[in-house]
Amino acid sequence: MHRRTLWTDRYALRMERMKSSIIRELLKLTEQPEVVSFAGGLPAPEVFPVAEFQAAAERVLTEHGPEALQYSTTEGYLPLREMIARHTARYGIVVEPENVLITNGSQQALDLLGRVFLNPGDRILLERPTYIGALQAWNAYQAEYVSVPLDEVGLRTDLLEEALRAGPKFIYALPNFQNPTGATLSGERRRELVRLASQSGVPLIEDDPYGQLRYEGDHLPPLVMLEGELHPEGNDCCYSGNVIYLSTFSKTLAPGLRLGWAVAPTEVIERLVRAKQGADLHTSTFIQMVAYEVARGGFLDRHVREIRRVYRERRDTMLAAMERYFPEEVRWTHPEGGLFLWATLPEELDAQEVLKIALEKEKVAFIPGGSFFPSEPEPNTMRLNFSNATPEKIEEGIARLGRVLERVLAKSKSARIGR
Ligand SMILES: Cc1ncc(COP(=O)(O)O)c(C=O)c1O
Repeated sequence: MHRRTLWTDRYALRMERMKSSIIRELLKLTEQPEVVSFAGGLPAPEVFPVAEFQAAAERVLTEHGPEALQYSTTEGYLPLREMIARHTARYGIVVEPENVLITNGSQQALDLLGRVFLNPGDRILLERPTYIGALQAWNAYQAEYVSVPLDEVGLRTDLLEEALRAGPKFIYALPNFQNPTGATLSGERRRELVRLASQSGVPLIEDDPYGQLRYEGDHLPPLVMLEGELHPEGNDCCYSGNVIYLSTFSKTLAPGLRLGWAVAPTEVIERLVRAKQGADLHTSTFIQMVAYEVARGGFLDRHVREIRRVYRERRDTMLAAMERYFPEEVRWTHPEGGLFLWATLPEELDAQEVLKIALEKEKVAFIPGGSFFPSEPEPNTMRLNFSNATPEKIEEGIARLGRVLERVLAKSKSARIGR
């Protein structure tokens, strides 16, 4: 007799914590062409260097075809790791290729860090709100979260000492143009964060996908550099600090490559390599070689300058349109870079409800902010992406969203009066 498998009885306990991202679900709805979407974190397709990739793929296949199509090392393509080590060394820390692991996007680095460091119930100290993909990655390892709120200049370091008493395994920080709020951690707070982490012996994970996308103000030193300054003696050989630094080519070249990297002490890299072997053996040899071929020789720096120009205009367009069309009760951040800004509606409004009306009546989308909170969500918040839509679409979409907000606010006011 053949019996049908009862799948529902067989899922691992950890699946209870693994929810599908609301962003993925929403992106499906926003794919209709008439919707102006500020929902995803998508870069502008207009800036993808398609011709450069075409030429590079051709060169790689002509000059190194069999090597490009072969299995390769888990650590990653050496010339690419050397280039990343050189770029990271611009921050004034000594980084060798042995300190660099190439990952399938920095999302994989987050997952591998979970595999390497987390036992069920371990605590992670992070920002509130924070990057939803990190919560997704670490929920799978049954992590618990201790969260510290942010303001316009990033993580509230005045609340850190108290939070550190919970004994976190590590701190997860997004110092530049944070996803979702767009907030940037001030220089002073960076020093304070690194000092307190070092003092309590808690390592830091610095996730920096947007650091190069600054549209105004001065570049601020990364945590990995500031931490190095606290320990000048350990800085003359390979990197051996207290910070694991993550970045990616997703926002500077293209997210479809799925290419990111972790910079860490060699003993951590060695563990991450073991974890990555079990996950996928290695990142695509071909893609690494093509990306290296595109990025080398100064192209990446030139390309990043172009991206900054395009995104600055889009950010400015969005900010100006919000001034014009949003009701005065709504507040929002003024990010100095990155892809996102964060709006806060009056407390009585629920952004999920607003989104339903926005999609139905005005065909405009954003992400309700609640899902970016590890706990105690603030339902009156929303994340808006300004990199993906053209300036004309941004203007149109913000005008539509302004109308929706006017409508829901008027309704909520009259309900209050009627009460
Ligand atoms: C803060 C943060 N970390 C990591 C990632 C993942 O990026 P990747 O495409 O490199 O996996 C993102 C993507 O949006 C992000 O915003």
